[in-house]
Amino acid sequence: MGNNAEARQNSFKGYPRGWFVVAFSDELKNGDVHTLNYFGKKYALYRGEDGVPRIMDAYCPHLGGSLARGKVNGDSLVCPFHAWSFGPDGKCNHIPYSARIPGKALVETTPCKEVNNIVFMWHDPAGGAPQFDVPVMPECEDDEWMPWVHAKLRVHTHPHELVENVVDVGHFSPVHRTQVEKFENEFTGHIAKQINSGVAYPIGGGVDKYHIEATYYGPGFQISRWDGFMEARLINANTMVDTGSMDLRFAVMLKKGKDARQTEAFQRGYVENMSKGFQEDIDIWMEKRYVENPVLCEGDGPFHKLRKWYAQFYA
Ligand code: FES
Ligand SMILES: [Fe+2]
Repeated sequence: MGNNAEARQNSFKGYPRGWFVVAFSDELKNGDVHTLNYFGKKYALYRGEDGVPRIMDAYCPHLGGSLARGKVNGDSLVCPFHAWSFGPDGKCNHIPYSARIPGKALVETTPCKEVNNIVFMWHDPAGGAPQFDVPVMPECEDDEWMPWVHAKLRVHTHPHELVENVVDVGHFSPVHRTQVEKFENEFTGHIAKQINSGVAYPIGGGVDKYHIEATYYGPGFQISRWDGFMEARLINANTMVDTGSMDLRFAVMLKKGKDARQTEAFQRGYVENMSKGFQEDIDIWMEKRYVENPVLCEGDGPFHKLRKWYAQFYA
């Protein structure tokens, strides 16, 4: 890790609490098992044959086999080492060579849910139960809308840097060539909203007059409702790997036009533009440092409010 990365890591207070994306639904078929290396731990994510996604600690309490390399059987996950089977509540429900199951044969489970064709895990460093929800998007069940096109980037910084974009009206023109005409923020409980309109000049070319409402539901998940030359819904989600890196997931959903093939091509173009847009931010993050007491001017956004909002998610 370079000095910059270390300095960035030291500026922040570890892991926040919230719902975090661990997969898009189409990446996790019935019977699939994924390894999740998140929040400094290893978890097993699996989808039971009943279609329900579940998350448990990866290490088997027997002799430490990795359940993330296990097999799904019904709604249970079977360890690859000696084939002990663990049910949705984390309790061992079958040992092939023992009639009696030890009471301590138990793995910790983590709240997991699937909504909007996205799979989430609840993470609270203090181990608390979920305190808020992510909203259901009616577009996800509506035939008028395309399915998600999604992508993922590994970024070596704390997600606080990403979330601070919510209030940073001043960076849009120099970093993203966007002319902001109207810009507002609202903070209510676990929700942080940006209302932004202006003119965008996408890297891929063209001019897009836009109006966007971008809303964080907790520190890890943002939905943007974008009205431009097409109606779009955008997802931006961060899930921390450790205190110095995160997976940044993003996705686009467009309202179907008359020409499905053209809408698909637009959608792919959108994701590419998003990816380039994030790269512009990443180039800044990799070379900057976090300023605890920034010198701000009149035209700057409400950084202090944003930081106070984000701080509520720390233990
Ligand atoms: S280590 Fe998992 S069954 Fe033995
Ligand atoms: Fe940005």
